[in-house]
Amino acid sequence: MRSEPEFKYIGNMHGNEAVGRELLIFLAQYLCNEYQKGNETIVKLIHSTRIHIMPSLNPDGFEKAASQPGELKDWFVGRSNAQGIDLNRNFPDLDRIVYVNEKEGGPNNHLLKNLKKIVDQNAKLAPETKAVIHWIMDIPFVLSANLHGGDLVANYPYDETRSGTAHEYSSCPDDAIFQSLARAYSSFNPPMSDPNRPPCRKNDDDSSFVDGTTNGAAWYSVPGGMQDFNYLSSNCFEITVELSCEKFPPEETLKSYWEDNKNSLISYLEQIHRGVKGFVRDLQGNPIANATISVEGIDHDVTSAKDGDYWRLLVPGNYKLTASAPGYLATTKKVAVPYSPAVGVDFELESFSERKEEEKEELMEWWKMMSETLNF
Ligand SMILES: *[C@@H]1O[C@H](CO)[C@@H](O)[C@H](O)[C@H]1NC(C)=O
Ligand SMILES: *[C@@H]1O[C@H](CO)[C@@H](O)[C@H](O)[C@H]1NC(C)=O
Ligand SMILES: [Zn+2]
Repeated sequence: MRSEPEFKYIGNMHGNEAVGRELLIFLAQYLCNEYQKGNETIVKLIHSTRIHIMPSLNPDGFEKAASQPGELKDWFVGRSNAQGIDLNRNFPDLDRIVYVNEKEGGPNNHLLKNLKKIVDQNAKLAPETKAVIHWIMDIPFVLSANLHGGDLVANYPYDETRSGTAHEYSSCPDDAIFQSLARAYSSFNPPMSDPNRPPCRKNDDDSSFVDGTTNGAAWYSVPGGMQDFNYLSSNCFEITVELSCEKFPPEETLKSYWEDNKNSLISYLEQIHRGVKGFVRDLQGNPIANATISVEGIDHDVTSAKDGDYWRLLVPGNYKLTASAPGYLATTKKVAVPYSPAVGVDFELESFSERKEEEKEELMEWWKMMSETLNF
């Protein structure tokens, strides 16, 4: 029985942005070393979390960037994959669908349900993009970060503006928890959270940055990015972290990047144990997979995984959670959520019996007849 949430770190999606790739290798070593030393924080984290680490999503781009002679690397060489595709503009643009749904009615989550084939048959998607989409759809990730370079900020959804303008704060229904998640990263990174830090380059517009965080679209609009794809296609909440002003800094500076980011990487991982978690089962105790868990006031549902287990990240507050599944009576529970750890809330759903369905249909028929008779 699963009861550990799944977490992922992805680095080096832009092949020329090397800091994330190195930090994730350091992180893997750090987790293993501290675990073996018996560091309680790390032992607890590893025993309670399934941690996935992908140091490079774009190894071809990295090779291209790294093979340039000398220490000074070009700003763009190696950004794209071997086909020349920018992977962080290559995901299905689900923001556009959700912005239409906001106006015309329609879901805000799991927008690719039943559309997996569209992914496989789409010739515009790079092999790296397809592979990572399958990964996102196959594993019930709860939390994730995508590590980039070229600036110093933790960026949260949405990344694409509603109106199509270049900059505009574009909040998603989970704006509160995303702000909190981004801060959980930035606040442990001294240069990132320094309010007096000068912009990376003299003319950079950092006006959307708050304590080392930014709404993605308020900074600049990114269509087809991986961050919003995670949020709109799966249960996974993802932020994008810009780790360094330089994209491919000299090797001897890597140690200082690790020192600046070590506590942030651990702090962000720990965020997965916030909000509400539990199981959805039937009255006989069998797990109900794909049950919908909705939160009153937040138009973004999560679903239960194979063993009926679910996680719902939330900021502190009082909430009403409803679990529902086809063929079952929906159940609502009230819950008070602290900052952490996650509160356990299990749901037992009663199934409609065949008999009840028949009774309901008979009743409906009778009502129809009655109302027709009365209207006459
Ligand atoms: C254990 O790991 C935590 C998290 O990285 C760290 O803050 C702490 O200093 C470590 N403890 C020791 C004794 O090294
Ligand atoms: C849950 O949904 C997924 C994707 O729609 C589907 O592949 C799977 O068969 C469903 N599982 C159950 C138990 O209904
Ligand atoms: Zn990047």
